[in-house]
Amino acid sequence: MISDNYPVEALLRPPVEYFAAAAYFAVAIIILSAPELLMMVPVVSYAAATLMLLRGGQRFLQAFRVRRYQKGLRRLPYYRMSSSKLPVSNQLLFLGKGFSWDQRHTQRLADLERYENRGYKVNSPLYRLSRRIEYKFEHARMAASLILFLQKSRFSPVRPLPPLGGNPALHGVGLLEGERDICISLDDRNGHMLVLGTTRVGKTRLLEIIAAQDIRRGDVTIVFDPKGDADVFRRMFAEAIAADRLDNFFFFHLGYPDVSARYNPVGNFSRVTEVASRIAGQLPGEGQSQAFREFVWRYVNVIAKALTALGRKTDYGQIKYYGEDIEGLFVDYLEHYLGNNVEQHSDWVDRVNEYETLFKIGPKDGGLGKGRGFSDRSDRAMALHKYFKDHEIRDPVAHSLIKTFDFEKGYLDKLVGSLLPLMEKLCTGKTAELLSPNYEDVEDPRPIFDWPQIIRTGGIVYVGLDALSDPEVAAAVGNSMFADLTSVAGRQYKHGTSHGVPGADYKMPRVSILCDEFNELIGDEFIPLLNKAGGAGFQVTVFTQTWSDVIARLNDQAKAGQVGGNLNTLLMLRVKELATAELLTKQLKDVEVNHLMTVSAGKATTEAGEGTNFSATNESRNTTQKMSLIHPQDLTQLSKGQCFGLVDGGKPVKIRLPLPDNSDLDALPENLELIARDMQDRYTTSDSWYQYPSSLQEVT
Ligand SMILES: Nc1ncnc2c1ncn2[C@@H]1O[C@H](COP(=O)(O)OP(=O)(O)O)[C@@H](O)[C@H]1O
Ligand SMILES: [Mg+2]
Repeated sequence: MISDNYPVEALLRPPVEYFAAAAYFAVAIIILSAPELLMMVPVVSYAAATLMLLRGGQRFLQAFRVRRYQKGLRRLPYYRMSSSKLPVSNQLLFLGKGFSWDQRHTQRLADLERYENRGYKVNSPLYRLSRRIEYKFEHARMAASLILFLQKSRFSPVRPLPPLGGNPALHGVGLLEGERDICISLDDRNGHMLVLGTTRVGKTRLLEIIAAQDIRRGDVTIVFDPKGDADVFRRMFAEAIAADRLDNFFFFHLGYPDVSARYNPVGNFSRVTEVASRIAGQLPGEGQSQAFREFVWRYVNVIAKALTALGRKTDYGQIKYYGEDIEGLFVDYLEHYLGNNVEQHSDWVDRVNEYETLFKIGPKDGGLGKGRGFSDRSDRAMALHKYFKDHEIRDPVAHSLIKTFDFEKGYLDKLVGSLLPLMEKLCTGKTAELLSPNYEDVEDPRPIFDWPQIIRTGGIVYVGLDALSDPEVAAAVGNSMFADLTSVAGRQYKHGTSHGVPGADYKMPRVSILCDEFNELIGDEFIPLLNKAGGAGFQVTVFTQTWSDVIARLNDQAKAGQVGGNLNTLLMLRVKELATAELLTKQLKDVEVNHLMTVSAGKATTEAGEGTNFSATNESRNTTQKMSLIHPQDLTQLSKGQCFGLVDGGKPVKIRLPLPDNSDLDALPENLELIARDMQDRYTTSDSWYQYPSSLQEVT
């Protein structure tokens, strides 16, 4: 009999209660059909039969439960969910079905591992036989319909298991008590969430499930998809329609510039220094490069400061243009400064013109010499330079510009050498139109977005970074987007949610940021985003394959630790590395697992005079053993679409995630459908997809 009161559960055994049930039912039948045999009057016989039937039913259910449990260890039903069935709540985020994992489950898994219980892990002989038949007669016409029946029919007792791989028992051990919906509170999501799992195990499908709920709930939803998964885009689009939010849906994709929205990664900032950080942050910074990177930072910062002071928009195009030669900006800014300060410099126009003429004449003919290293500077620039030096003007921007101008050009080009190739990439062809949008061109139908506007208007953004074609550009843009978001979050964190919005009771919407393949995107910008974002109502969910990728990308164990420490909820699908698995299992306590030991002993005594010559004992000893609640190896054996999680302050749960069903999604408009198909064709599933050449031509 199964009872929770016993120290040892016996679930892996024949369901013997069936015999008891059968006996009870038989007695009930006898009582009903021939009560006189038992000398019962009708009333008594009915009462007795009812009693027997009830007891029999109870035994039957107990046996049934054991059988069902044993079956569940091998076979899990496929769990699909259409978008209309997806629960959407304003308090909770639904993840899937499952149960809280505790000592009982560890115990049951350990029981299953015993040699004598191996039979409960393998499929029935009939199942194995039918698989063999299918394989052997795959091409035989005669067997076709039999095979079809075996594989597909609902009535086939040996239908193949869903192709999810892994060890179904990991979820099966919790089915005895039944599953419930596993949700996490939206407040907890401000503590951010990390989803780990190797390729093709369900990370992106989970992203779909989460994004769908966020969109329907009305949250601002921003999805970063470096790999370009067409299904994610399809779902977001369909959910935006379902939630009546299509007006606020933005599609940004570096690979499809003709239909992509436009975005200026360096156009929005709370401090102008952010521009330089976003650009210099993309350059290599180890060892010797560190010094160069700092120089580039200062250089870009000068340009950004001058552009801002001139009232121009900062963008990649401008920075590239003046990064190649700062002279034009130098001239513009100094003239602008003098124009604004005519009281002190009433005669500047004449004086500068005069110097210019003198530089033109040159020293040989009584004019001015430019000096070594300045020979290719223009006369105008030299004239302004002289005017500023002579008048000892103390304007910080002018001062920085002059200092930069003072470098010999060839030398300067060497110092900022690493900047230009990157800028070249960001400013070439159609990419340039997307990243350095022309605000004046009213003919261009492609919308321009920025984060403050997206947040204010409750936008939905799909960011496809096309990392496959150009990882460097993808990382630069992705990283700048993070940095930009960080800056926005920082402002909100500091000034409260109603900053800059008239009407104090304006409530900031929740902002959900979902990053797939996030190890490809993170840079140092990510750490402050996590730090500040929660307080500003930003909920970050990141998906990645291994934790070591993150460490590699950040180039620093301590920084990775900081990121990890800021991700409070952890979900782990199947992983390959034990080190990654330990990220979860190390956070759990050890538990005691029972082990029944059978001891038998016989003893023969030959001493004379005693009545017994032989004695035998047989006992079952209950020993306990310490084990980790979840073993790292269990995480390498999860079926697809299944995960362990630490939710709600580190409580372990086992979850079965639903596979989003695409069949009832609204169709995309024709032009987007073509794009989605193209995305599908280009999609690759390899482990290190980002290192693969994007076409065969590149290989040959
Ligand atoms: N919840 C699930 N249930 C069943 N199968 C799933 C589930 N999630 C994913 N899969 C299967 O795994 C495949 C890959 O999923 P995907 O999310 O793209 O993997 P990843 O992003 O981890 O590389 C899917 O096409 C599907 O066949
Ligand atoms: Mg994926």
